[in-house]
Amino acid sequence: MTPTSQQRPIGVFDSGIGGLSVLRALQAELPHERFVYLADSGHAPYGERGDAYVAARTHAITRYLQAVHGIKALVVACNTATAAAIHEVRTQCPDLPLVGLEPAIKPAVALSQTGRIGVIGTRGTLTSGKFALLLGSLQSQAEFVVQPCDGLAYAIERSTEHAVPDAAESSEVRELCTRYIAAMGTFGTAAGHIDTLVLGCTHYVFAEEELRALIGPAVRLVDTGEPVARQTRRLLQATGLLADPGDEIPAACDRMQLITTGSLLPLQAAAQRWLQLPARCCSTATVPADGAGAMVHEANRALAQ
Ligand code: DGL
Repeated sequence: MTPTSQQRPIGVFDSGIGGLSVLRALQAELPHERFVYLADSGHAPYGERGDAYVAARTHAITRYLQAVHGIKALVVACNTATAAAIHEVRTQCPDLPLVGLEPAIKPAVALSQTGRIGVIGTRGTLTSGKFALLLGSLQSQAEFVVQPCDGLAYAIERSTEHAVPDAAESSEVRELCTRYIAAMGTFGTAAGHIDTLVLGCTHYVFAEEELRALIGPAVRLVDTGEPVARQTRRLLQATGLLADPGDEIPAACDRMQLITTGSLLPLQAAAQRWLQLPARCCSTATVPADGAGAMVHEANRALAQ
């Protein structure tokens, strides 16, 4: 039976496992929805690769999720891809409801008491024109200490490769966090200190423990998972695409399909660790740059019917 528009899945993607932090919030906010999550781990990290590469991957993945999985909406759970490509995706797919991510510096301004806010993210995000515009619009209201964290997302990606984290990989995450946090100045609630830290990369949510140990208990950490989940709900409601809350909640792997362009085990370990999902919900796929794979797959599917 062909699913109705409302029953079709929501596509969610990131360069790797970082977007699982957004998927976790989406799952809590929208329990009746189905999700297809694409981790582009075979092409990660995005943060230090440049806009043209990230934009090409974003287009290929969007086409793949539409053609192969018939998604009804797309959440770009990656700040770097949003900065590099969301405008073009919006232009090229005007009928696809689209939610992007950007560092939550606006909410941080409302939360900060000292008026000094730290922002960490990938180099791609923090040097983008989109971020410059956002920062410019708020610069009169607070002081921002902006720190690109080269290598951190990739270290987090690798630290999740085992169900029990590998000590050497976890210590690489700790070392990078220590270096970047130290470079930003003093954290705390006293005047002149950074009292709010914005996580401008979805991977960093998974280094919360390491970051918390460095900045102390009183500093606020701000991420985007929950606001993005609420925004997705609003968008689905406005477009009449929200799943019927009267429908039964689908079974685990029907509700959550996780796909990676890299190796399967790390995604399975991360899905189990952070979303309590069984390994069988995860699979691999190839998403070629020109999206041809999606077309071939679609043609094969049509032939098989
Ligand atoms: N998780 C991604 C973000 O939010 C990018 C990490 C990377 O691949 O560098 O920006």
